[in-house]
Amino acid sequence: MTNTKLDRRLFMKGVGAAAFVTGAVNLPAASAYAKGMGSMGMSMAYDLNEEYNRIGAGDFKWDGIRKMNRPYDVPYPMGVADMDFRTCPHVTEALQTRLNNECWGYEAAPEDYIDNIVAWNKARYNQTVNPKSIKNSLGVLDGVTSVLRTVTKPGDKIILHTPNYSSFFHVIPDALCELAESDLILNKDGTYDFDYDDTERLLKEGASAIIICNPQNPTGNCWTAEQLGKIGDLAEKYNAFVVADEIHCDFVNKHAKYTPYAAVNSTNAKNSATFKSASKSFNLAAHRTAYMFCDDPDFMDRVEREANHYRALMHTMGTIASNAAYKHGAQYMDDMQAYMDKNAHILQDFCAKEMKDVNYKAHEGTYLAWIDCSKVAKKLGNPMGNETVGDMMQRFFIQKAGVNLNPGEHYGRTGEGYMRMNLATQHSRLHRALEAMQSAIKNI
Ligand SMILES: Cc1ncc(COP(=O)(O)O)c(C=O)c1O
Repeated sequence: MTNTKLDRRLFMKGVGAAAFVTGAVNLPAASAYAKGMGSMGMSMAYDLNEEYNRIGAGDFKWDGIRKMNRPYDVPYPMGVADMDFRTCPHVTEALQTRLNNECWGYEAAPEDYIDNIVAWNKARYNQTVNPKSIKNSLGVLDGVTSVLRTVTKPGDKIILHTPNYSSFFHVIPDALCELAESDLILNKDGTYDFDYDDTERLLKEGASAIIICNPQNPTGNCWTAEQLGKIGDLAEKYNAFVVADEIHCDFVNKHAKYTPYAAVNSTNAKNSATFKSASKSFNLAAHRTAYMFCDDPDFMDRVEREANHYRALMHTMGTIASNAAYKHGAQYMDDMQAYMDKNAHILQDFCAKEMKDVNYKAHEGTYLAWIDCSKVAKKLGNPMGNETVGDMMQRFFIQKAGVNLNPGEHYGRTGEGYMRMNLATQHSRLHRALEAMQSAIKNI
């Protein structure tokens, strides 16, 4: 193990960073100093180019996928949605401080935890969050399930616009409900829209809730105020509840904008609950800490009572980590956004110039790219046995390029031919992965 104090010093570049580690300045001052030093709007405060070694940490993305695919090596695991970067040094510092006390009982969140959630959303998105309505959750999906259980009856239909995040297909039956799938419409410019007529049809048939993922995993779409307003109006007309999963909201590429569902108008605010977490933004997924809020604190109390959500107390290290992230991590997040924007453009340029069998246009939000590999699938021919087209491509890219991607079919019935590629890695690794994919495709 390397010395973490030294590591942090190396990770945060420049005078401001060194001063932060020694405690001589607070982060806002260090950030202000660093800001504007770099190109592309990056502060260069954090060395995101460092190819941090995750092997042996026990995570699914690296160790899990490599174990599953032996004897093949998978040097480019680009599946599971977490990041290959160290978290923000303030997070590590806060966790280390708590470790100094070796007693681990039931605990309350840090005193300024709620204030920092409110401040983060206000400062970055001008979103006003009612602090009284904020409830903790041991993960976004746990909260989504609790809210769905509160607003639906067993057997109700829940609308999911697909392709959409694969775990929603499990959350809906977990809430004792049934899936009502509505295909998204692919626009000519590569963005997506909802099929409002189809959504209305499903609502007329009795669907009682809609899950919106914003920005959307896996398409990377950021929904506009107009689109979210139309969904809100439809929900209002048919008395349906909207679950707005905005866990990816901190990742928005430069040409795009994240609009919080609940901030669009009072109708949307009234008929929804929003779910967020610092877990994607600061790579804290296994810390099991998320939060949810809505316009009406009484509704959130109902969720606690009716879905037994009060059992979802809190995770000691998760709340400490998330609190430090929101309190001190604005600069880290700005840097990360610019870095992810560049990755999207690296991929776009590579597909346009070197890997024409893969079609991709820089997406809007999340760090996930939804790449059209239908030409590759065609070249590969028929899947084996029970494989889907996506399984076949996953096997091909693992075995021939050492790259793991997620099959498009995991995200809904229109996913065939697509693969989801996690871009949350270093530029250098991304380049090597793309070169390996290109060479594998050439040799089909
Ligand atoms: C849209 C979306 N929601 C929720 C989650 C999972 O969140 P949690 O682990 O907090 O339940 C993910 C993880 O990839 C996701 O992409």
